[in-house]
Amino acid sequence: MQLSERVKAIKPSSTLAVTAKSKAMKAAGIDVIGFGAGEPDYDTPKPIKAAAAKALEEGKTKYEATAGSVEARAAVAKYMNTRHGFNVTGDNVIISVGGKHSLYVAFMSLMNPGDELLLPAPYWVSYPEQAKLAGGTVKEIPGSVDNDFKITPAQLEKAIGPKSRVLVINSPSNPTGTMYSPAELKALAEVVAKHPNLLVFADDIYERLVYGSDKFVSFSTLHPALAERTVTFNCLSKTYAMTGWRVGFTIGPKDLIKAMDALQGQMTSNITSFVLPAVAVALDPAQDAAVETMRVEFDKRGKHIHQRLLAIPGVKCPKPTGAFYVFPDVSKAVFGKTDPAGKRITTAAGFAESLLEHAKVAVVPGEDFGGPNHVRLSFATGMKNIDSGLDRIEAYVKALK
Ligand SMILES: Cc1ncc(COP(=O)(O)O)c(C=O)c1O
Repeated sequence: MQLSERVKAIKPSSTLAVTAKSKAMKAAGIDVIGFGAGEPDYDTPKPIKAAAAKALEEGKTKYEATAGSVEARAAVAKYMNTRHGFNVTGDNVIISVGGKHSLYVAFMSLMNPGDELLLPAPYWVSYPEQAKLAGGTVKEIPGSVDNDFKITPAQLEKAIGPKSRVLVINSPSNPTGTMYSPAELKALAEVVAKHPNLLVFADDIYERLVYGSDKFVSFSTLHPALAERTVTFNCLSKTYAMTGWRVGFTIGPKDLIKAMDALQGQMTSNITSFVLPAVAVALDPAQDAAVETMRVEFDKRGKHIHQRLLAIPGVKCPKPTGAFYVFPDVSKAVFGKTDPAGKRITTAAGFAESLLEHAKVAVVPGEDFGGPNHVRLSFATGMKNIDSGLDRIEAYVKALK
């Protein structure tokens, strides 16, 4: 079949591909340890599930307003105002089918062909593909492993050109598991403030999963010039263990939200209607204790997996301070070596493939994240898995020739 040029140009999501492959191996009875999935290994807190079940039971099964119910949008606005110091109402909010869809609708609503996405690397795999679908081009700004993958204000200033339209800030970050300090973000905000055509997409979806001494601050609140030029993204997926529910939020200027509403109205319409009453329940401070339980556990796992990775000769890896990922540089440890089948490893993709085949451990290669010397491991998996997986990785690396 003759496919569109648009779809032919898309790279399939490598994170979903690894997860699917390790799930298929598990289903075939193979004992695989998966570090691929970017989702909490917890169940959704009970009161959130109960709210959706009640709404379903009560017959909330009809079309809703495209952007979400008035109550759900108001709940998002209240959360942003009380937790992050925003000054928004429900009219500044649109609810979409997960954070991924929120970002996609925003890219399609704001980018014209030829507009440029400024993308600090490493980055989450979908940003460049979504920007390209909107006709945009991508300019990467390379972060360094020695600086926890963070870009500097000087790098940003140098990268901004006449076509630059959107800068993505994703802190805490997928895939790096690191985050900017408030002062570092403020310094970047000062640069953005000088360029009135530049918008910022602040992807805050890991805002509650923070482990170091730095406090999370939302980009739009950092500089008076930025509230109108920052579009903020959040979702229920990671914080509340709700990846399968598909609930994402965009918080932005009202004219943008209206445009996104029009686009989404021709695309998906509202998210599942009986999920909407669960939004306010999730965002209520009553769920803070459940979120904290998960955060404390992720913090422990992050420290542990980091220690174990550093014990492998040649591996370089910043300490995770947010989200639930580590992104070690494995180039010195494995590139140029030969695996048990006599295959030379020269890339992260080659390493990930060989590791899955010979050690039955699934990690995501860094190429599609803009980090070709790295692999991503998610520590949203139990301590036992972390230890068994790292035992296998250690033994595999030791056996390389
Ligand atoms: C940085 C980042 N943004 C957005 C998303 C999308 O989240 P959702 O699962 O709600 O679509 C993800 C998911 O992995 C992510 O890591």
